[in-house]
Amino acid sequence: MSNHFYVLDDPEQMSIAAANFLMETAVKVIEKKGRFVISLAGGSTPKKMYQLLGKAPFKDAVAWNKFYVLFGDERCVPETSPDSNSRMAKEAWLNKVSIPADQIFLINGTLPPAEAAQRYENDLKSLFANEEPVIDLCFLGLGDDGHTASLFPRTEALQENEKWVTAVHVEKMDSWRISLTAPFLKRSDQIAFLVSGEKKANILPKVINGAYRPTEYPAQLILKGQPNVHWFLDEAAASRMK
Ligand code: 6PG
Repeated sequence: MSNHFYVLDDPEQMSIAAANFLMETAVKVIEKKGRFVISLAGGSTPKKMYQLLGKAPFKDAVAWNKFYVLFGDERCVPETSPDSNSRMAKEAWLNKVSIPADQIFLINGTLPPAEAAQRYENDLKSLFANEEPVIDLCFLGLGDDGHTASLFPRTEALQENEKWVTAVHVEKMDSWRISLTAPFLKRSDQIAFLVSGEKKANILPKVINGAYRPTEYPAQLILKGQPNVHWFLDEAAASRMK
């Protein structure tokens, strides 16, 4: 695993650095492959980056019609819910650029969880029909408990080694989520974590430098053996990293 660290002063600078990285990667991949498959992180941290991508100069800087957008996870809520990851990404960014609607792969949070997961898996299987699935760039967040996407500690989702998509019941939130699985997330050519704020300062060194305890720190499942991992951090989150 080769980790690349970018520690910026604050969330705004971190978001700008991550948006620049996204654009540079997208241009290179589109030039080489003719399309760019990106998986988006949910939660609150990526919102600033998404907002930057929805306005100049980023808004006019790339061939959006070559983008194929996946979601790393989704809460089992209607898209109108303030908790919806796709709602946040659409309002901040996707509704402001010209990515064709059929190239944005939404997870249907209103279906029964197992059905929602299966449907999403079917959609991804059709996107990658007859080819090995590769996510060109996968953005992920990190929870202060070491979860990423909706791969939460001590959940059955961590044992899923075949499926690409799974339904997860998160005890502590008493809620269902749909998540890409660790094996599918590991099909990413590049992975970029966005981690900001003092709340994440304790978990970061445990996930990156600590003992390999993936049941406790699921983000470690994604890191193991992964060649290109980029950490976009602010000073606060990185404050306990050696
Ligand atoms: C989600 C995310 C989740 C998130 C972390 C960090 O749906 O919530 O996919 O994995 O990235 O919980 O969340 P914050 O960015 O809000 O701290």
